[in-house]
Amino acid sequence: MDPTDLIAQKRDGRPLDAGALRALVDAYTRNDVPDYQMSAFLMATVLNGLNEDETAALTDAMTRSGDVLDLSDLPGAHVDKHSTGGVGDKVSLLLAPIVASCGATVPMISGRGLGHTGGTLDKLESIPGLRTDLSVEQYKRQLAEIGLVMIGQTDEIAPADRKLYALRDVTATVESIPLIASSIMSKKLAEGIDALVLDVKCGRGAFMKTEPRARRLAETLVSIGERAGTPTVALLTRMDVPLGRTAGNWPEVAESVRGLQDDTEGLDDVMDVTLALAGEMLALAGAADTPEDGRRQAADAVRSGAAFEKFLEMVEAQGGAPSTLETPGAREDAAVRTVRAPGTTADAGFVADLDALAVGRTALALGAGRREMADDVDPLAGIVLHKKPGERVAPGQPLADLHAQSSGNSRFDEAERRLLDAFSFAGEEPARPPLLMDRYADGAWQAE
Ligand code: URA
Repeated sequence: MDPTDLIAQKRDGRPLDAGALRALVDAYTRNDVPDYQMSAFLMATVLNGLNEDETAALTDAMTRSGDVLDLSDLPGAHVDKHSTGGVGDKVSLLLAPIVASCGATVPMISGRGLGHTGGTLDKLESIPGLRTDLSVEQYKRQLAEIGLVMIGQTDEIAPADRKLYALRDVTATVESIPLIASSIMSKKLAEGIDALVLDVKCGRGAFMKTEPRARRLAETLVSIGERAGTPTVALLTRMDVPLGRTAGNWPEVAESVRGLQDDTEGLDDVMDVTLALAGEMLALAGAADTPEDGRRQAADAVRSGAAFEKFLEMVEAQGGAPSTLETPGAREDAAVRTVRAPGTTADAGFVADLDALAVGRTALALGAGRREMADDVDPLAGIVLHKKPGERVAPGQPLADLHAQSSGNSRFDEAERRLLDAFSFAGEEPARPPLLMDRYADGAWQAE
């Protein structure tokens, strides 16, 4: 394999065979191909694309660049979910225990937040004592015992993706649907799962800003899963407005616990996406006859308390203190500033819109996220929204609370400015488009 030949082939728009892609990925993972050659290959790929065969072959090579976990000695169907990321997207925290409490096994490997989007690992680690760095043995033992585990990626899972993603980040080669899809799916397929549900987010707070690109990503992800023999379904969900009423790590945990305790006032959007994804996971796992039946089972598990019990079981198994979750709310050690609606009494009306991207950037400014992977996060930082689009508001009413670890936080001023810019107001009640946009399975879209 001569990397220069492969780069030239891709530059000239000629397809590469699976063997060539495998050899390139293997050599790059072993450090036998330098970053400058891989960068040229990645840019040629961004410009000329990869066909379906190439995308599947690249993903397979990346999946096999490290360990592929074998869960076949554990009973039951193992099903996971991946979201392409958004603002206030705490769905995994609710979904995983709901699905596990309905009888499917959920081995969830999640990521950290980067930029304006949050990550499940950072959220979980805001629970005092909870560990996400379990060994593969601990991971399998916990799965066998309680059917649910939520951990971070180990160094052994898809190491090629780790190297490639870092290189893409600094060579302007992230924005390519085949590269994004192979990156996501290589990590998921290495988990040893039997089925996968994808939440592909679309809108200004998402990675995919436009519907055609979000649809194309969903189709590519599902095609990779199916070709690898892993039944895969994608839901397309809107991400223009933050999901739920919180953004930030502990604030999102507190809100998720409220949802799991069936205290869902103001959480319709979170519950809607969560139950739709749960229905799909339970159907794929064979625990429900149809996604609709799965959705009903999931709603029952929330109502009965079984899902919350499962969440507490997982928290305890991973070293967290369940007592911190009994009455979740603002932590005593958090400093809070309230942001109020501007204007005069003549301006009373509705919240017309709330820009998810701007809210995500506000959370980042408060310290809830990281600008670079090595940054620390403030577990308590974030936003609790009192008003969302479609709700009535009068000048001076609280729009949101900003949270951070220290009251002398000079970040509050910047965050308040950013958050006020994220809101817009109107005299009329705005239309609210549906959150669940579409479903892609078996090679076809089926409008939700
Ligand atoms: N998330 C990933 O895991 N990989 C990408 O390339 C983009 C988003």
